[in-house]
Amino acid sequence: MYKFDRAEYEKRMAWYTQARFGMFIHWGLYAIPARGEWVRSVEEMPKEDYMRYFEEFDPVDYDPKQWARAAKEAGMRYMVLTSKHHDGFCLFDSQYTDFKSTNTKCGRDLVREFLEAGRAEGLKVGLYFSLLDWYHDDYPHYGDRNHPMRFNENYQNGGRNFDNYLTYMHNQVRELCSNYGKLDIMWFDFSYEDKYNVMRGEKWRATELVNMVRSLQPGIIIDNRLEVSGEGFGSLWTGEPEPFHGDFVSPEQIIPPNGIQDKNGRDMVWEACVTMNNNWGYCQDDRFFKPASMLIKKLVECVSKGGNLLLNVGPDAKGNIPPQSMQVLADIGAWMRRNSESIYGCGKAGIGKPDSGRITRKGNVLYYHLFENTIGPMPLPGIAPGEIDCVRMLATGAEVPLSQSWVRNDYADIAFADLGPDPILPDPVDTVLKVQLK
Ligand code: GLC
Repeated sequence: MYKFDRAEYEKRMAWYTQARFGMFIHWGLYAIPARGEWVRSVEEMPKEDYMRYFEEFDPVDYDPKQWARAAKEAGMRYMVLTSKHHDGFCLFDSQYTDFKSTNTKCGRDLVREFLEAGRAEGLKVGLYFSLLDWYHDDYPHYGDRNHPMRFNENYQNGGRNFDNYLTYMHNQVRELCSNYGKLDIMWFDFSYEDKYNVMRGEKWRATELVNMVRSLQPGIIIDNRLEVSGEGFGSLWTGEPEPFHGDFVSPEQIIPPNGIQDKNGRDMVWEACVTMNNNWGYCQDDRFFKPASMLIKKLVECVSKGGNLLLNVGPDAKGNIPPQSMQVLADIGAWMRRNSESIYGCGKAGIGKPDSGRITRKGNVLYYHLFENTIGPMPLPGIAPGEIDCVRMLATGAEVPLSQSWVRNDYADIAFADLGPDPILPDPVDTVLKVQLK
């Protein structure tokens, strides 16, 4: 009987909830068609047609050191790369398949170089690994919910040996956990069900898999997608976790409106994974990049609700992170250099969201994130004037006086900061007030 050790769990999660901000990287053969990472499934592309990209793949500009520098300069503390996505292409030198990066023109173990580059920049490193595999003959084809050949009657599943596929899949996870040094995160993706199968939990032989991962990589953090997907919380939520429970909930393309609490109301560890445009993998026609000003506020929102943000980039077929993404990362980094103290190690403030923006907290310091100015002195809701030791502009350290203006006399139970006569806030995106409590 599996016994969940909460003390061990919280020790394992400490760096992760301190880090708050990471880079997701979706990269592989699908960068050549440049229509997103699901291109084979969406276009019901036969394997033979997809193999042309395998023959062609030659990321001459691949430089994971540059990716790691970009992540670090953006203020990200960890990076997660797709080691194998649903298409089954391995970005690592797996001994169990020929469908791998070391057999392409580049001949490189892309995962190994990525992990080394991330560690060299002092970042924690993780690998995304798809449970689905559209390349492997023993994975369900016809009638599966996602497979590229799901509608093609020539791809019936008679004779497919799913156990044989699971042995292949487990062997590859073993390779990644044995041959590439210390891994900080294993990001499995994803569990689902359709009219023929429930692809969850023990269908993946998940207890055996997780036990192996944890035995080879003590302290590793594992997501919840051996049980669910971006939808669903997983068994840790129930208070009676399965042996293969996720360590964090992985909401996708959404920020949980109220953070995430388990069945008993206890705050859960969660990470919102978000694309910069609307695609995980490179998509040349998707120019709808979220501006840095928005993503900074979304990072603050995640932290204010007790969560992490895993922000995605999708490098192109040559190995370059798109210039739009690089600019967004640089702009976020400029803000983080002045204000990251209000992100790292911070969490929920236990105070309702103020009109002006959001609040993050670390111990007896509150960070009021001002997204917009107010009329008159700035209210600091949730704390009484007598509780405050001092207020400082986080970016500069400058003293911010509490307002003594008569206009606030009717609201003596609320503290107000005096931001001076300029109606324009010092930082047009997010001006942070550091409020030290007594
Ligand atoms: C979904 C998508 C997958 C992507 C993942 C990232 O599972 O299907 O392509 O890698 O989200 O969270």
